[in-house]
Amino acid sequence: MNVHESEKIAGTLVSLGYVATDDINFADVIVFNTCCIRDSAEKKIYAKIGDVKGLKRLNELLIVCVVGCMTQQTGMSDTLKSKFPFIDIVLGTSNVHLLGEKIKEISSFYLKNRKKIYEITDSSTEIVNDFYELRTSYPNAWVNIMYGCNNYCTYCIVPFVRGRERSRSPQSILDEVKRLLDEGYKEITLLGQNVNSYFSDNWNFAKLLDAIGALSFKFRLRFMTSHPKDFSSEIVDIMTAHKSICNFIHLPVQAGSNNVLKAMGRQYTREKYLDLISMIRNKIPDCGITSDIMVGFPTESDEDFFETLELVKAVRFTNAFTFVYSPRTGTVAQKMLQIPANIKKERITKLIELQNQISQEKSYEYLNKTYEILVEGVKDNDLACGKTSNGRLVNFKCGESKIGDFLNIHVDKVKASALWGHIENGRE
Ligand code: 5AD
Ligand code: SF4
Repeated sequence: MNVHESEKIAGTLVSLGYVATDDINFADVIVFNTCCIRDSAEKKIYAKIGDVKGLKRLNELLIVCVVGCMTQQTGMSDTLKSKFPFIDIVLGTSNVHLLGEKIKEISSFYLKNRKKIYEITDSSTEIVNDFYELRTSYPNAWVNIMYGCNNYCTYCIVPFVRGRERSRSPQSILDEVKRLLDEGYKEITLLGQNVNSYFSDNWNFAKLLDAIGALSFKFRLRFMTSHPKDFSSEIVDIMTAHKSICNFIHLPVQAGSNNVLKAMGRQYTREKYLDLISMIRNKIPDCGITSDIMVGFPTESDEDFFETLELVKAVRFTNAFTFVYSPRTGTVAQKMLQIPANIKKERITKLIELQNQISQEKSYEYLNKTYEILVEGVKDNDLACGKTSNGRLVNFKCGESKIGDFLNIHVDKVKASALWGHIENGRE
């Protein structure tokens, strides 16, 4: 989601006549697109903003902007002002569309008359989607279908910094997707904090997915993120009804114990999650399922953690993003009794080891089989990569001109857990 937001920011700058540079020393404008979901992300961004101070001394005309969800935290505007007085523009998540206007505004003043702009408004204001995007992920294009989140999981800062759920109109989404497919994009990924609660003009997510899946182009359709409490068999039926929709679901479980799930406010049980997995696998046996899993949430006992490991063993995710719980200001869990850092570290190490072992074992299921792969990138020496419909990355050799093509790749090697193959009917 943040990558796509950066594409919108880059597009705004290009439409003002700026060009991208790889060397920060030559920049006229620097925009920090921030994230505050975990403390580590926030610390990193502080360090990076600090690094710019010297550049500002060398080039007083440099415009430094900070946008993204970190700015939306209570009191953050003042913190940024006092820590980094050289910042010129701070915008919140719902007024980032004003970035171009604000840059134009301050660059039109002589230096001594330049004012600082700090505009943080309620994060739940209406959707403004008229950005010119500088897309950087061809053949994939990201498409926001909704913004914000209403779930208030007790550990999560997102609803505070991104506001209440707001869905875009189905017509504007369909128009955008058709335009992207006409332009030659081969994979569309629908984005939202919880796509399953999409609702606009009487369309729910199932109806939207069905309508996009039915578009008569050769393309792939993915979506993320799905919340287990809202994920339904109707979605899986629609996935099976359209060839374009990938056999892939990102379904964050967060924890395997009912005690922890309840304390997290996730609104489903371990049993309900496992039922969902069985339902999906009954209808789509080779469905790739990935997850987000957190360790060290307050109240997580050894037994609770053991249940997370047992769930991971039972489900056998294709892959999982694993996180150490990080207390976030203003959330319910921040006020609960915290787990010591050494226990969190032990748990995350065990969880990563287990998931790595499973991912590696699952890699062998692909060996000696042929898959349709969308070529996503080609590096030096024609070293290419692309994904199967169910989300596994495969490495193979092919020329750069093939980026965006669908190729049949025969997987002939598993190295660590990475898959390697060759183009079928003509080794390359
Ligand atoms: N600490 C650690 N991980 C978190 N996530 C969300 N909030 C926190 C937090 N406070 C994780 C969840 C979510 C993913 C995007 O980030 O697992 O699904
Ligand atoms: Fe955060 Fe929960 Fe919303 Fe996901 S569903 S963004 S974890 S509050």
